[in-house]
Amino acid sequence: MPQRQSDESQLEILSKMYGRYHLGLERGVTLALSKASYRKDCASFLTSDFHDFDQEHFGGTEPVDVFLTCLEQLHSCQVLDVGSGLGGAARHIAQAGCMRVTAVEVHPDRARLAIMLNKLVALDKRVEVLPCDFLTADLDENSYDGVLAILSILHMPEKQIALKKISNSLKPSGRFLIEDFVCPRPLTEEESSFMREEISCPNLMSLDSYLHTLNSAGLRVDSVEQRTVVWAEASRGRLKTFRDNRLRYLNDFSHAEVEDINRLFTASANMLTDRIVEGYRIIGTKTAGIS
Ligand SMILES: C[S@@+](CC[C@H](N)C(=O)[O-])C[C@H]1O[C@@H](n2cnc3c(N)ncnc32)[C@H](O)[C@@H]1O
Repeated sequence: MPQRQSDESQLEILSKMYGRYHLGLERGVTLALSKASYRKDCASFLTSDFHDFDQEHFGGTEPVDVFLTCLEQLHSCQVLDVGSGLGGAARHIAQAGCMRVTAVEVHPDRARLAIMLNKLVALDKRVEVLPCDFLTADLDENSYDGVLAILSILHMPEKQIALKKISNSLKPSGRFLIEDFVCPRPLTEEESSFMREEISCPNLMSLDSYLHTLNSAGLRVDSVEQRTVVWAEASRGRLKTFRDNRLRYLNDFSHAEVEDINRLFTASANMLTDRIVEGYRIIGTKTAGIS
């Protein structure tokens, strides 16, 4: 299988990008937890208590619920969550009854927060967080019944390697659900540099190349769903809510952090609305290794 050295410069960009919001995020999470525990009289949390901040993609738990419908005999399933962020999807899957979820997250502070949240809902025995780069992670092959990768491959410079690793980690007939950005046309130098440097989305592919790469990796595509309009609307809504609550954000975040979040939310609303990138949900099955 292809191996790679980790791309330090892209990891640094990623780490800086997520690092910029991390302290604020951590303060926001602590505040949300203190409100939830106050509301409940006792500090026993439900996974849904975290949904306002732990589903770091569009549509809340909806894409995760769609992924769950792809899995059979959930109680004996092992699932891999690639680029798991704060672990919201992984916990939702475990809560639904999945036997074991392995959550791979490269940003150490995000992995740490995920581990803390897992413990608060007593799912730490069934959701294992691996704080490492998925592209170089040492994962068991032919082992997972399902792989989920929501808005994470877009950050990885070598998408071919990421997709091949997904294929290798799946059992034959294992299912996957990927949500990702693709480019409807070649990006200008300025656009690609913005995508790479500002939001850490290097080397985005066209949909055709993406589907071809999946096939070459031994992954059959069962459905492809264009999500751009839904994501664009959601990201404009997120931007509006953020701007309407800007003053309240200043209670939890520094002025510079608020400006950074504003830039990130504005950029993602614009690039989806202007179709510089498009969003897709791709569901499929591993065929390699099936004779
Ligand atoms: C937009 S967030 C999505 C998080 C999660 N999948 C969700 O939907 O809630 C993307 C996550 O992918 C992680 N990530 C990016 N590149 C990665 C890599 N090479 N290995 C592991 N995680 C990675 C980021 O650190 C970030 O937490």
